[in-house]
Amino acid sequence: FCLMKFSNALIEWYHPNKRDLPWRDTKNPYFIWISEIILQQTRVQQGLGYYMRFIEAFPTIESLANAPLEKVLKCWQGLGYYTRARNIHLTAKFVVDEYNGVLPNTYAGLLKLRGIGDYTAAAIASFAFDEPVAAIDGNVYRIYARVFGIYAPIDKGVGKKIVREIATAEFDLKQPATFNQAIMDLGGQVCLPKNPLCESCPIKAICYAFKCGEVASLPVKALK
Ligand code: ADE
Repeated sequence: FCLMKFSNALIEWYHPNKRDLPWRDTKNPYFIWISEIILQQTRVQQGLGYYMRFIEAFPTIESLANAPLEKVLKCWQGLGYYTRARNIHLTAKFVVDEYNGVLPNTYAGLLKLRGIGDYTAAAIASFAFDEPVAAIDGNVYRIYARVFGIYAPIDKGVGKKIVREIATAEFDLKQPATFNQAIMDLGGQVCLPKNPLCESCPIKAICYAFKCGEVASLPVKALK
């Protein structure tokens, strides 16, 4: 039994521990979009240089839309998953042609764009527009499975649904951007897939897996 609230403990830890990352110093939805697409399949350390070069080469959505695809792909060289770059380019053209170059300012609006799924739409909407919507990526699935002892596989519908319900209930409606950045940092720095640093975890007192010695068993995955 513990009165500490998940979001309070998380955000209190985040402020002194947060990573200083360039896409966190901006509310520009275009920059945030680019950073989130790069970070989908790329580690932060590698993604940093690509992000800086990309927004320097294409500082606005118009400059990206007007650039030849070859130039965009050249900027992406080495990152892999080139569909990401193609989709970014197509979406930039679409937004310039159809929306006057203005990205939608809601989760629902962003979700309609090619290459922007659930997670990315929630990340952009919360970081750029402070919309209270939980951004749930692999890190977040892992954290909730451990903290709340969810044994349903997180790579299946039921497990995802349970996590989504918990994430919605635990979400800090007053600080959407901070909450989403904080949980991402916890997953990237403390609640690691292998050998997590439980001793330095701000929510170990409320973590099911930590208290029950189940850290290595959670999350459960159906495949692999
Ligand atoms: N991974 C995906 N999005 C991120 C973000 N905004 N900050 C740090 N790591 C991330």
